[in-house]
Amino acid sequence: MLRLDKFLSDAGLASRRELKELLKAGAVTLNGKPVTDGAVKLDPDVDQICFRGTEVEPPRRVVLLLHKPTGYVTSTEDPRDRTVMELIPAAFLRQKVVPVGRLDKETEGLLLLTNDGELAHRLISPKHGVEKRYYARHAGTATAEDVAAFAEGLTLRDGTLCRPAVLRPIGPGESEITVTEGKYHQVRRMMAARGMPVDYLRREQEGPLRLDGLPVGQVRELSAAEIDALCLPSTKEGGTA
Ligand code: URA
Repeated sequence: MLRLDKFLSDAGLASRRELKELLKAGAVTLNGKPVTDGAVKLDPDVDQICFRGTEVEPPRRVVLLLHKPTGYVTSTEDPRDRTVMELIPAAFLRQKVVPVGRLDKETEGLLLLTNDGELAHRLISPKHGVEKRYYARHAGTATAEDVAAFAEGLTLRDGTLCRPAVLRPIGPGESEITVTEGKYHQVRRMMAARGMPVDYLRREQEGPLRLDGLPVGQVRELSAAEIDALCLPSTKEGGTA
């Protein structure tokens, strides 16, 4: 059982102090009856709580998979550009999801959002070695030497050292790149370091998750089984980074 005022503030409705006023004003109902006492106990799985007539959802872990279009920045707000948050339905925004890591404005593809900070950290931290696979169109054609340089660990033009990565040439001007970290503009800078600037980049996979035909701009919520699979230790666990 949970106090009503705690439930409402955890749901992001208002601060505890503001809630006092809202409760006094009769804005909240519990199982259809106005309730003014924030100390009342409730069971979020059983009781129905409404705020100004709209049901308040209990906070729960949410993980979303967005097929990010180009032209959107990975940020919760931005003074100039459209943000990925504009593509997220209001019900999920109320659950306070935020992007996990970042895709550049001009990069398309799989972007996760969650309200679970621990899971987000796990997915981003190079320590856990979660693989991110990208499809790139680029100048030139990747050679066996490029593949070897990626496997060894590239040094970028500014001297930054990258962890070993997988470059898989697909054909002239097309490659797949798999990395286990997320440095700023990493894939573009890796390819540029080998003289193959990228003009189109799409993230296709993160850990066990793939885009799997999800249309550009669309979002879907992961199932409990998919979230469990994301939380499993990866083969890279225990790395040294
Ligand atoms: N690497 C990049 O260069 N850009 C991205 O958005 C993601 C990885």
